[in-house]
Amino acid sequence: MSTPTTHDTPLLDSVEDTIDRFREHGYLVDHRLATTVFLQTRLEKPVLLEGPAGVGKTQLAQSLAAVTGRRLIRLQCYEGQDESKALYEWDYGKQLLYTQILREKIGQIVSDASDLTEAVDQISAHDSIFFSERFLAARPLLEAITSEEPVVLLIDEVDRADEALEAVLLELLSEYQISIPEIGTIRAEQLPLVVLTSNNTRDLSAALKRRCLHLFLDYPSPERELDILRSKQTGLTDALAARLVEIVRGLRELDLRKAPSISETIDWARTLAVLGVDELEAGLLSDTLSVVVKYERDLRRAGEALPRLVDPNHDVPDAATPQTQTAPTPARPHAEREIEGDVDGRAARLAKDQPGRHDSDYYGAPGGLGAARKVSPGQGSRSFAGRGARKRPV
Ligand SMILES: Nc1ncnc2c1ncn2[C@@H]1O[C@H](COP(=O)(O)OP(=O)(O)OP(=O)(O)O)[C@@H](O)[C@H]1O
Ligand SMILES: [Mg+2]
Repeated sequence: MSTPTTHDTPLLDSVEDTIDRFREHGYLVDHRLATTVFLQTRLEKPVLLEGPAGVGKTQLAQSLAAVTGRRLIRLQCYEGQDESKALYEWDYGKQLLYTQILREKIGQIVSDASDLTEAVDQISAHDSIFFSERFLAARPLLEAITSEEPVVLLIDEVDRADEALEAVLLELLSEYQISIPEIGTIRAEQLPLVVLTSNNTRDLSAALKRRCLHLFLDYPSPERELDILRSKQTGLTDALAARLVEIVRGLRELDLRKAPSISETIDWARTLAVLGVDELEAGLLSDTLSVVVKYERDLRRAGEALPRLVDPNHDVPDAATPQTQTAPTPARPHAEREIEGDVDGRAARLAKDQPGRHDSDYYGAPGGLGAARKVSPGQGSRSFAGRGARKRPV
């Protein structure tokens, strides 16, 4: 086999080019992710994406294939998967068919054998014919290596595979080759772009991580999540979409078994658009909560939190609110409210308000994204760690 071909013309010109090209294909990458993908095309290293469900790991590989015009070959990993389903297996049916067709010829080969041992010896001299590439059934990994056209190879949810399969991957990931005892080593003619994804249900080996450009893909910033929502043309206005993003971020902070992902934010936005909402109020959000929250216990928790997420002042004690007040307080700028003191309990509500969740726009015109609360860096990993631990107890 010849030396693997490197990319003659660059697949991506720069990090900025990467961002633009992915956007053209409907996938929005931030600078960090774009840098990793760009480097992958230059360093010819696999990329390992770890992160919670629904943050776009699989979609990244699909978009990479679209951006580079390559075919996508996908290996979906699962528990108990053996390497014959990932690498290759011998095509027994074909071998059998050939021996049937060649029965006469085989008979001639052993016709002068004096006993069984001699006959077996004579046939075994022809073993290699039946264990040649002709009788090899390529599975995704071998298919990616032997493809004449360069491909994108997606090894999806590698954490679900057993350690044995993970070990099998090591040779492929570092050398772009596969060793088959009966045949020898098959090296890639065209280097595939390899993307591995993991939901972190178990730790991957250091050996595997070392061979890859590693990136933790977390929930996106509010700006990017809104950008993604816009790009999906959900039918929701920008103002409502911005509020929805904020509410979903609030849900992610709850101790849920499965935090809502980007895809669920998209689904929720589409659902609300279909219902023709022009205001996000707790009742309607609660009725459609099952679009984003998928466990009964989570539904209860999220349902309880919704009124507060929709209006952080919701939990004001009754005593602080005069009996006569029935209509909601009209919107006023934050500074104005602060100097008013505790007239009609507003100071009590302000005291309970969570700083930073909303800017002054929230109480009047729909807020821009400046209103969105900054999420602590550990937020995704917290829900994520919890989810991982529950998903596959060890
Ligand atoms: N950056 C993004 N740009 C555009 N769409 C995105 C982005 N990230 C996620 N999405 C949307 O979210 C959906 C879910 O993404 P995907 O299936 O790739 O998630 P995942 O991380 O592989 O989840 P899982 O771990 O459950 O397999 C995608 O189909 C896409 O519509
Ligand atoms: Mg996936």
